[in-house]
Amino acid sequence: MNRSEQTPSPRAMKRLNGAHGHQAATGLEHPATARVVPLSAVGARAASPTGREVTFDPEEILVTKTDLSGHITYANDVFLRIAGYSEAETLGQPHSFIRHPDMPRGVFKLLWDTLKEGREIFAFVVNLAKSGDHYWVLAHVTPTFDDGGRPIGYHSNRRYAERGQIEKIRAIYDRMLAEERRHTRRPDAAAAGQRVLEQLLAEQHQTYEEFIFSL
Ligand SMILES: Cc1cc2nc3c(=O)[nH]c(=O)nc-3n(C[C@H](O)[C@H](O)[C@H](O)COP(=O)(O)O)c2cc1C
Repeated sequence: MNRSEQTPSPRAMKRLNGAHGHQAATGLEHPATARVVPLSAVGARAASPTGREVTFDPEEILVTKTDLSGHITYANDVFLRIAGYSEAETLGQPHSFIRHPDMPRGVFKLLWDTLKEGREIFAFVVNLAKSGDHYWVLAHVTPTFDDGGRPIGYHSNRRYAERGQIEKIRAIYDRMLAEERRHTRRPDAAAAGQRVLEQLLAEQHQTYEEFIFSL
C-alpha cells in the first residue's frame, strides 16, 4: 500500500477513533430504535446506483452507532451529508439501508461474525447514497460494552479510502460477487464469497487484517 499520511494504520485508526470520543457510546442515543420505521414511510429510499462517486475530505470521519441488531442509533453530520439522508430518515433504520449491490455478502458475514465474537474489524465498503451515487470508505467497526462487559451495540468510524486501495479491493470484491451470484440462497452466497476471500488469504499467507492493510 502506498501509505500516505491520509491513510492511517490500524493502530492510528484506533488512536484516532478513541481521540474522537466515540468509543464511549451508551447505545442509548436513540431510545426509540425498537420501533423501526420503514424507509418508505419516512420518504427515505435510495435511488438505483448512478455509477457516480462522491468523495469527502481525508480528515472527515463518517460515524454511526447501532444497537445489537444493526439498527442505527446515532449518525454524525458528516455521515448524513455524504449519505444524503436527514437524521430522521436515518435513525432506527437497519444499516443495510445504505447497502450497495457491489458489496459482497461475504464481507458482511465476516463483519457480523467478527463483531459477534466481540472483536473489531476493518473493511473497505462502498455505500449507496440516497441520490444513487456511491462512496468508498475504510470502516473500523467495533462492539461497545457496558460496565459489566456485556455488548450493548456497535460503532463504525469510516475514513477516506485511497484510489489505489479501492481499485485493489474492487478486484477482489468482483471475484467474490461472481462466486456469490452462482447461489440463490443468501447464506450460500455469503459463504461462497467468504471462501473466495479465505482462499486468497491462504495463498498470500496473510490474516484478513494484514491483507486489508497491505492494500
Ligand atoms: C456498526 C455497523 C455499521 C455498518 N455499516 C454498514 C455500512 O456502512 N454499509 C453497509 O452496507 N452495511 C453496514 N453494516 C452491515 C449491515 O448491518 C448489513 O449486514 C449489510 O448492509 C448487508 O445487508 P444484509 O445483511 O441485509 O444483506 C453495518 C453494521 C454495523 C453493526
